Formats: sequence, C-alpha cells, structure tokens
Amino acid sequence: MVDVDAFIGEKVDEIAEAIGDAEAIIALSGGVDSSTAAALAYEAVGDQLTPVYVDTGLMRKGETEGIRETFAYMDSLRIVDAQERFLDALSGVTDPEEKRHAIGEQFIREFETVAGETGADYLVQGTIYPDRIESEGTIKSHHNVGGLPERIDFEGIVEPMRDLYKDEVREVARALDLEEVVSERMPFPGPGLAVRIIGEVTEEKLDVAREANHVVEQELAEHDPWQALAAVIGKATGVKGDNRVHGWVVAVRSVESRDGMTARAQELDWETLQRIQSRITGENETVARVLYDVTHKPPATIEYE
Ligand code: XMP
Repeated sequence: MVDVDAFIGEKVDEIAEAIGDAEAIIALSGGVDSSTAAALAYEAVGDQLTPVYVDTGLMRKGETEGIRETFAYMDSLRIVDAQERFLDALSGVTDPEEKRHAIGEQFIREFETVAGETGADYLVQGTIYPDRIESEGTIKSHHNVGGLPERIDFEGIVEPMRDLYKDEVREVARALDLEEVVSERMPFPGPGLAVRIIGEVTEEKLDVAREANHVVEQELAEHDPWQALAAVIGKATGVKGDNRVHGWVVAVRSVESRDGMTARAQELDWETLQRIQSRITGENETVARVLYDVTHKPPATIEYE
C-alpha cells in the first residue's frame, strides 16, 4: 500500500459520510479483518457503531478476554455469551457443510437479536479482497455473516477494506495502533475451532482443540507461519502410563501463504515438532498421537472441514 495514513483518512471520511447520523453494527470476531474494520468505523462514527462479539465457545483460548481488553475503549461494545446455544445447534451434526450452516444460522440469530435492539441501519463488514474472490466461486460457504444482508434489511453495507489483501490490512491495523496480538495475529476462521474438529463438535473435542491450538500458536510464533493450527481428527490407540488408551489424534498444520488461496506446508525442524508433540500429549491426558501435515494447498485446504 502506498500511504496507509491517507487510506485511513479517506476511509474514515467515507464511512462517516455513508452512515451519517444513523446507527451501525459490526460483527467483531477478534480476527484482524473485523477488528480493523471496527476500529476504522468507530473512528468515523463513535458510539453510533455497536461492535458485537458473539462468544460462540468455538474461539481460541483467551479470545473473549482479549477482545474485552483491546476494545475496552469502545463504550458501545457488546459481548454475547452464546456458548451453550452453539453447542446445542451443533449437537449431532457431522457433515462439514451442515456444520458451517448451523454455525452461520446461529450466528445470524444472535446478531439479529442485537441488531433489532439497536435498530442499526448500516452493517459494517471486514470483507477483504480474497474473500470476495472465494465467495464468487464455490470453494466454500465462506463468511459466517455472509447471509446477514439477506436476513436483515439494512439500508447499506459498508466494507472499507474490500480491495485490500491481508498484509495490507495488517499495515492499516498497525497504523491504527491495534494491539500487536490483533494486528499480527494469524487468520482464524469464522466457524472457529469447529472446522478444526472432524465429525461432531463436542465440549471434550473443543477442549482438546483449544489447548492444542494454543500450544501450536505459542511454539510456532518464532517460526512466523502465515497460519498454524491443530485439528482433532479422530481416535487411535496409544499408551499412557501402564495402560493402552484409545485417545485423540491431533494433526498439526503450519503453512506459508500470501492470502490463503494457495499455501505451502512449512518445513519445520524435528526439535520443534517434538516439542509440540510432547506438550500436546503431555498437557492433555486424552491425546494419544500428534501428526504433522505436510500437504500443500492445493490439494488440501488449510482447515480440515
Ligand atoms: P481453507 O481451509 O479454505 O482456508 O484453505 C483458507 C483461509 O480461509 C480461512 N477460512 C475461513 N475464514 N470463515 C472465515 O472467515 C470461514 O468459514 C473460513 N473457512 C476457512 C482459513 O482459516 C484460511 O485462512
């Protein structure tokens, strides 16, 4: 990007002009895209913007607390505790697309409730350029808020970053002084840990996935991957103490990419891989095995579902 400050000034003016005296709303996921869009829009219209963070229970470790701190300066921030409702909606659902659908549907319901309360006329979204390209094809049912405009009759949709790539969004985030954890954070999918769990999402699998993802993020921070993750992919036999156990299999994935459309599996050294393995199996009694995924995208996707 040529001039970040000029971009910010221009977008803030554009947003202020688009929204005027009306009320606006944004779904805040904690990721860099929605956080940056929220910060831009808040700068433009202040508390006329209601940023809504839905705690789906599918988020990364510490995510909700992080959001509360990072966006404490926004008086209009709403945090919705919807963990139980999401688990209920996902109960018995095993098909990947159905899972995404169930999450999207529940998300929209949660969001509709708040939008109804605030009477928002405008929807602000953190859509970026690669999102638009992927949504135009049929690669996946993308954003978990993708169905919002069809369900709620907004007067307008504001997408200040629709022409930016991820690395440009990070530049904007840094210029807006969004904390490093937000601006430098790896991308995280809207449906959260649910796409890092094969089959039904249960509380037990979520706990394993959350802790394992935390270990991977910590251990790989210095390797600077574009995205790194852990997925709960099934069960296999292992030995814990003197007992044979049927424990969880966790797959670790770390990739290099520019925009997520294609990716290369990252080459990691044995010591790092072993440290990750020993922490994940050591910190969780129910994990029997850790695998490292060496597949590029294509043919694999980055997430597991
Ligand atoms: P895949 O798995 O399709 O992912 O190779 C490409 C990038 O997109 C992220 N991703 C999503 N992001 N909602 C999102 O906001 C989604 O439903 C979704 N699915 C995947 C994924 O984490 C990766 O960065």
